[in-house]
Amino acid sequence: MLRETVFMITVTLSDKKFNEKASAYIVLLTQDEVKDGVRSGAADVLQALWGDEEAVFKAHGFTGKNGSSVFQVGYHKEKAVPVVCVSLGDPSSSDDAVEDVRRACGTGYNLLKKTKAETISVLLPDAKTVGTTQSNLVEQATTIFHIASYAYTEFKSGGSAKKDTPWQPTIVLSGINKKHEKDVKRAEIIATATNTTRGFADCPPNIMTPQELADQAKKVAKDHGLTYTCFDQEKAKELGMGCYYSVAKGSSNPGQFVTLEYKGKKGAPTIAFVGKGVCFDTGGISLKPANAMSGMKYDMSGAAAVIGAMKAIAQLKPDVHVVGITPLVENMPSACASKQDDVVTAMNGKTVEIINTDAEGRLILADALVYAEQTFKPEAIIDIATLTGACAYFLGSFYAGLFTRDDALAGTLTSIGKKVGDKLWQLPLSDQYAPALDSPIADLANCGNQVYKAGATTAALFLGNFVDKKTQWAHLDIAGTDSKIPGTTYLGKGATGTGVRILVEYALSYGGK
Ligand code: BES
Ligand code: ZN
Ligand code: ZN
Repeated sequence: MLRETVFMITVTLSDKKFNEKASAYIVLLTQDEVKDGVRSGAADVLQALWGDEEAVFKAHGFTGKNGSSVFQVGYHKEKAVPVVCVSLGDPSSSDDAVEDVRRACGTGYNLLKKTKAETISVLLPDAKTVGTTQSNLVEQATTIFHIASYAYTEFKSGGSAKKDTPWQPTIVLSGINKKHEKDVKRAEIIATATNTTRGFADCPPNIMTPQELADQAKKVAKDHGLTYTCFDQEKAKELGMGCYYSVAKGSSNPGQFVTLEYKGKKGAPTIAFVGKGVCFDTGGISLKPANAMSGMKYDMSGAAAVIGAMKAIAQLKPDVHVVGITPLVENMPSACASKQDDVVTAMNGKTVEIINTDAEGRLILADALVYAEQTFKPEAIIDIATLTGACAYFLGSFYAGLFTRDDALAGTLTSIGKKVGDKLWQLPLSDQYAPALDSPIADLANCGNQVYKAGATTAALFLGNFVDKKTQWAHLDIAGTDSKIPGTTYLGKGATGTGVRILVEYALSYGGK
């Protein structure tokens, strides 16, 4: 069984703006509409259910501030139906009007949770009003209702959401032509895979060990026709993965090195995704303090994102050969653990002095990157990792760090991130910082000299030592975006599945879909 708890919703389309049979309604409005009169279509819905919508707005003091909402029961043929209006504020002055739509959908969904409505008719704004296409609007709304419906309840017993019948509403996107059904389908595949990733990441680390995550990847592969290979830490050592092994050997749960492959058409170009899979990061011998250690089950979020992305790619079938590589370990302090001052050798022969055992992510990624290049010779590699506190500290929760020397790749990934609502911000990968990684006795230190500061950049530069300069390569630091996002309506308390949507869209764009 997949260890995910996904409350499946269904999204459908209807040409009609007013669906009389719906058991609840969500209507998205702009501030101007709240003030000066609601657009036709939306007005028809509200007048049919509420009578005078302006009177309802007034009674609730609803002025249409971005994100604000009104919940008011309406009547249709003497039946009471909950109606929610959520305002987008002024889309023309918003720096991300489509994100406002996502959040408004989340607000509407949350407000209707307690009603357990079976069918929710949703009236989105005109795509032009929020500066996007109808296809993207449909994709974003579909995605967000799926993401909002996720709840991690695997370990709740007695009276929990799990034991109650889960709420599984049908969402009808109203006034939308059926030709957009393909957009719904595509979004559904990607959003469901995002929820799969979230289920892996939210799972506690005593359960989601390297072996368990490998088994989950194997299950995904079996269900969707991917090739699965796995070897353990001893085999990795034989292959020369001294950096990976130095982390894996500290735990009694042996490291597993997993590769998923989507073959695509014969002769298709190859791209590789590499995800950091530290199933728990104690810091190792350089032990983290207790409050910095809690939440470190999420340190496998990069690997979980790669597995989720591979699941969606297998279903969407782009014309590209995609390899997903996930080095899985636990970073533990033990009698077998690496020590500060140890020197280890990576698969490409470079030696690394371990300055801090808590900088373990870059060690396991170093060998995974070399393995990706040597084994598959990809045109492009994207790695994704909860790599540095420095990145999370700087960018917070709304942007992941993007590091690349390739301007075209930076542009592609940044615009994909903006489109799908999983945003990236490019940070420097300049060689001026490279001396921060000098070691007096080895080729490299695993931790940047503090005099240079810029911890997220020095970590990215470290990884750059394990990728051929000719390969298109980007590193995504998701340390701040993997979990516990404040102030967003559609994400719960736990994992976000960050990166899945980006990796999938990237593979689709590479494979001409
Ligand atoms: N997994 C952490 C990074 C992290 C920190 C992720 C906070 C999410 C939230 C990583 O392995 C780590 O410990 N990095 C160190 C590196 C340092 C020792 C050079 C860090 O960022 O402090
Ligand atoms: Zn660490
Ligand atoms: Zn870590």
